[in-house]
Amino acid sequence: MAKVKAKKAYFCQNCGAQYAKWMGQCSSCNNWNTLVEEVLVKTEEKAWKTNEPSNSKASKALTLNDITVDNEIRIRTYDGEFDRVLGGGIVPGAVILLGGEPGIGKSTLTLQIALKLPYKTLYVSGEESQRQIKMRAERLSQEKSNCLILTETKTQHIFKQIVATTPDIVVIDSIQTLHTDFIESAAGSISQIRACTAELIKFAKETNTPVILIGHITKDGNIAGPKILEHMVDTVLQFEGDRNYTYRILRALKNRFGSTAELGIYEMQHNGLREVTNPSEILISNKSEDLSGTTIAATLEGMRPLLIEIQALVSTAVYGTPQRSTTGFNAKRLNMLLAVLEKRAGFRLGAKDVFLNITGGIKIEDPALDLAVVAAILSSNEDCPIPPKYCFAAEVGLVGEVRPVNRVEQRILEAEKLGFEAIFIAGNNKLGKRDFGIRVLLINKIEELVEALFS
Ligand code: TYD
Ligand code: MG
Repeated sequence: MAKVKAKKAYFCQNCGAQYAKWMGQCSSCNNWNTLVEEVLVKTEEKAWKTNEPSNSKASKALTLNDITVDNEIRIRTYDGEFDRVLGGGIVPGAVILLGGEPGIGKSTLTLQIALKLPYKTLYVSGEESQRQIKMRAERLSQEKSNCLILTETKTQHIFKQIVATTPDIVVIDSIQTLHTDFIESAAGSISQIRACTAELIKFAKETNTPVILIGHITKDGNIAGPKILEHMVDTVLQFEGDRNYTYRILRALKNRFGSTAELGIYEMQHNGLREVTNPSEILISNKSEDLSGTTIAATLEGMRPLLIEIQALVSTAVYGTPQRSTTGFNAKRLNMLLAVLEKRAGFRLGAKDVFLNITGGIKIEDPALDLAVVAAILSSNEDCPIPPKYCFAAEVGLVGEVRPVNRVEQRILEAEKLGFEAIFIAGNNKLGKRDFGIRVLLINKIEELVEALFS
């Protein structure tokens, strides 16, 4: 046994900062009462050991020209959306962290991908039994696959199985359940998470085997445990969506091997997650009758143009303080738009309740939604429907001016593709191409919108 030196330290459970002494407030993230004592045991021994003694040799500096890269080898996962978010597949040796709220579908997504892969995959679960995983796999109805299932939480045992089975890809569900013998604190504590991740990263880099880690997220949306985890891994993916709806969005928060602008959309069905390749057609309800308060916004999520439906309801306030409630849209932004409407267009909305909803349960933060939101609110307020084949893509500024948005041509083309008749954009939005198969209406001020729609 190697030399053992017991050591205690205090870790902030919020940001992962390490302190020698207890303090009431973490000086790094300023949160109170987050320091917890954890016992560390240091040994020279590590869970993942390479046989080559050359491992301890210091590495040599090389010029970029001398470093050879095998031309873009990526492991395709046969899941178009997952590949797209990763930038074209998994890079060998990459460590991918997949975060998301409980019950959102992380285990389903990774198991589904593991089952589909033609490579040998080791799916390690610390949360479910082998029987439970088998039941889930049957639901996902993949007949034959090369996926091995292991239920284990101790990294030493996991590595033993890895050596015995030599998988091409390893999935860990979840990093918070793992523990290593070399650290004495409980599974899920900061020091355990950090040590287990470090062991897995070392394994991934030395053997060029990609590792997908599932991570839980906390109430405030961070990956549980330290932010530090996000710095250690190559790629951080977030799986999100409203649990009451079926749509799920996969986005990259960090990607060392690709863009973070890409986005994958899935639909949760009774037999697993289905890739959504034509999101706009699904997110828009094909209403037959004219109803007031609904509009279509041409937005961009990542690189993908997406047409979504916005619904607003404006009614007389029943309580003294009017209510403002939003789903999928920033509430502060709504308040700002209401103030602009009040001040610049003379609509008295101060005594009205305003409810705003982006259908499909997805959350969108794109300033180009502004104009559609304003139009939906006005339509509901006036009880005057907007033609169903109209859509909007522009930002609204504080003085009531309509501002240009990025990549407007892509939005126009998507609207054209889906058979829309007209799109409203900002008057000073630069357009390279001028002939679209859709009417492009230019407006500069909110007043012009009111005139165009309701007069
Ligand atoms: P799960 O993958 O267990 O979530 P996580 O690992 O993120 O906690 O997903 C659980 C939810 O998905 C559960 O509420 C049931 C639902 N589900 C389906 O709707 N269809 C399916 O085929 C499967 C496997 C799960
Ligand atoms: Mg799970």
